[in-house]
Amino acid sequence: MTLILNKNDVVSVLDMKDCMNVVENAFKELANGTAVLPLRTNIKPPDGLSLYMPAYIKEMKALACKVVTVYKDNPKNHNLPVVIGKVLLQDPDTGDVICIMDGGYLTAVRTGAASGVATKYLAREDKNQIAGIFGTGVQARMQLWAVQVARDISKAYVYDISDEAADKFIEEMSKKLNLEIIKADSPEEVLKADIICTATSSATPIFDGKQVKAGTHINGIGSHTPNARELDTEIIKRSKFIGDSKEACFSEAGDIMIPLKEGAITESHFYAELGEIITGKIKGRINNKEITLFKSNGLAIQDVATAKLIYDKAIEAGIGVEVNI
Ligand SMILES: NC(=O)c1ccc[n+]([C@@H]2O[C@H](COP(=O)([O-])OP(=O)(O)OC[C@H]3O[C@@H](n4cnc5c(N)ncnc54)[C@H](O)[C@@H]3O)[C@@H](O)[C@H]2O)c1
Repeated sequence: MTLILNKNDVVSVLDMKDCMNVVENAFKELANGTAVLPLRTNIKPPDGLSLYMPAYIKEMKALACKVVTVYKDNPKNHNLPVVIGKVLLQDPDTGDVICIMDGGYLTAVRTGAASGVATKYLAREDKNQIAGIFGTGVQARMQLWAVQVARDISKAYVYDISDEAADKFIEEMSKKLNLEIIKADSPEEVLKADIICTATSSATPIFDGKQVKAGTHINGIGSHTPNARELDTEIIKRSKFIGDSKEACFSEAGDIMIPLKEGAITESHFYAELGEIITGKIKGRINNKEITLFKSNGLAIQDVATAKLIYDKAIEAGIGVEVNI
């Protein structure tokens, strides 16, 4: 039998704290060599882009593949979203697909979770910290949630080029997180924060890296093509650079590839992978002055670990529809 889980089912069982735990374990297995993470396969049909993201996490007993499509004309032509994602979860003992679930909310939560784990290991540990979020879309919501799970946050600044998007974010997230959220009038105002997340659709730098305070931690999650970046050369130079995957950073992330091409940094500027910090193979932050930066490109291990978590919780709660395919 195959369990089918729609978006509401996924939302009802998926919590950020649990997701951060499994995502942390997935990064640990990646660093320890017990996870299999092939490169993403991309296919370009005439009207869009189709991405296949498989992974196997051995100790977790999690095997799955996420299928994500990006079809720009979907809303206009088919009344469907631009981005559609679904995950096929398999039983690693038999190979059978045991669950098909919606992947949209899963993707946002697992992306937040990676930043949450990076914040847990890299941000300063003092109480009453301020969060700063660039962008107020789907991902930004989960970034703030994750940062609040990882650290004691007293308030947050958010900045978006769309006032309407920022207002909606504040209305929704201040209630959900029981947190004071302030709409920043300029990118500079967000730089007052101790922990910053960049989650925008911008292809060019969104703030001046010279103005970032000593001791800040940054999670950069947007812009993952070689020619697009949210972060300027200055902030990359000033930061201790940690990536989800070295390979992904040097093949997809303009944030580091552009300064490298400019000759502003060398490859050795890449300090460590997140898994190496979690497992203690490499030390993370060493004082309260340095700026730490986590670049997230999004790895299939995050999807697979989260899908297994959702499936286990759904079975426990008795939700979803079972079909005999
Ligand atoms: N790293 C990962 O694993 C991962 C996963 C999913 C999505 N993403 C990326 O995250 C980013 C955000 O995705 P989303 O789904 O939330 O998109 P979204 O369209 O819902 O939100 C993006 C927001 O950014 C705002 N924005 C654009 N330029 C800005 C600027 N210069 N300053 C401030 N705000 C600006 C837009 O107005 C919009 O509100 C995208 O780049 C997406 O590709 C990364």
